[in-house]
Amino acid sequence: MNPPTNSRSMTDEMLDELLRQLAVWRVELVLFALPTGLGVWLYVRFGLFFAVAAPLALVATALCVGPLRRFLGRLLHRARVRRHLETAFHALPGVLSEKRPRIHKITRTTFGDRVELGLWRGTSIDDLAKAEAVLAASLGVRQVRCVANAAKRNLVTLTITRADPFAIASLRCPLLDVKRNSLWDPIPVGVNEEGGIVTLSLPERNVLLGGEPGAGKSVALSLLVAAAALDPEVDLWLFDGKVVELSAWSASARVFVGHDVQLAITVLEELTAEMDDRYDELLRRGVRKVTRAEGLRLHVVVIDELALYVAGIDKKSAQRFAELLRDLVARGRAAGIIVLAATQKPSTDIVPSTLRDLFGFRWALRCATRDASDTVLGAGWASEGFSASNLNSARRGVGLLLHEGGVPVQLRTFHLTDDDVRVLAERARQLRLGK
Ligand SMILES: Nc1ncnc2c1ncn2[C@@H]1O[C@H](COP(=O)(O)OP(=O)(O)OP(=O)(O)O)[C@@H](O)[C@H]1O
Ligand SMILES: [Mg+2]
Repeated sequence: MNPPTNSRSMTDEMLDELLRQLAVWRVELVLFALPTGLGVWLYVRFGLFFAVAAPLALVATALCVGPLRRFLGRLLHRARVRRHLETAFHALPGVLSEKRPRIHKITRTTFGDRVELGLWRGTSIDDLAKAEAVLAASLGVRQVRCVANAAKRNLVTLTITRADPFAIASLRCPLLDVKRNSLWDPIPVGVNEEGGIVTLSLPERNVLLGGEPGAGKSVALSLLVAAAALDPEVDLWLFDGKVVELSAWSASARVFVGHDVQLAITVLEELTAEMDDRYDELLRRGVRKVTRAEGLRLHVVVIDELALYVAGIDKKSAQRFAELLRDLVARGRAAGIIVLAATQKPSTDIVPSTLRDLFGFRWALRCATRDASDTVLGAGWASEGFSASNLNSARRGVGLLLHEGGVPVQLRTFHLTDDDVRVLAERARQLRLGK
């Protein structure tokens, strides 16, 4: 009944849309306007020749000068991502289309883009997380994942993945190119969703690995063992429930224990005594923990298939082993003792939360259930969107690693084939013989 108002609101909408289009195309418009404006000005002042020649020279310079061309390429790429994202936010259902996240920064990664966003009051990471699939479809990309900043929940990192970073059959381990290693340095363990190398720094840390059979635990453990074995200043204590997984490293190990649980207990008792001696030594030196400068040897304790030792048929032995292990994990950190344990059955009878929480780093390879994933990573991560049960079972070695960043990182472990392990184990043996 009120045509003037309707036609006004339609004009408003058209004007809004025009302004929105001008805003989202602003970078391209400015880049187009510069030579065009120059051409018009030259035409008015000096005539047609200069009006055509100068803008052409400007464009040719931009295309021929490498750094300038790359700069413009980055600028246009960021503008395109920004435009697509702004359009995708605009089309979202619910509160986010009204209060669209602000785009602070766009960085190109190997497999897509990383976008830093700011959320308006009245919206949260939950709204954005729910819209991940819609955003991915609007952008026409493989995946969109958002992670909120742990300290400031209004800041969100959006990872846009265009190509599958884990599609390659296996990733070569950089340790294969290293003659000698220092365990005080970060160890490259795999590649994240953006194609960046993920590293782990082991001193003062214990690592718990869990995942279903064949998920890639032993391969991940082998990487860490290789890094330790290639440092002759490290003592390796190996416990291998399956015997064959770690046996290649036995020549570099101080102790190698197979499925003999009694022997495993005796060795852990020996290690506990060593830990107590180490604390006496630290007391004498007047320091509180082993550091690189102290020059004391690090001890790396590796347990593949924890269940055999802590949940075996002989309950008394299992309990004794679990007690010794808990003490070692709890007190060993400052004494330079690093425990790396892997379990096929991440359940609370194998890894009670009191033990799990003592492991600073937790690495969940593909798990059968969300509960199993939470047993490794810690309660609540699955409901925050980090469940190793969602990982693609066809991509072995893909997992979630909870380490320094405070939020689990999805990565694919570098692959060490049996031949690679043989090469590295022999290199470590020679190193330890002083050759
Ligand atoms: N990062 C990886 N890249 C490519 N392939 C991998 C990777 N990790 C593991 N695999 C493949 O998966 C197989 C199983 O890996 P692994 O033995 O480490 O599993 P697991 O979790 O230890 O299994 P189980 O619980 O039975 O001991 C390996 O033989 C290898 O072929
Ligand atoms: Mg294994």
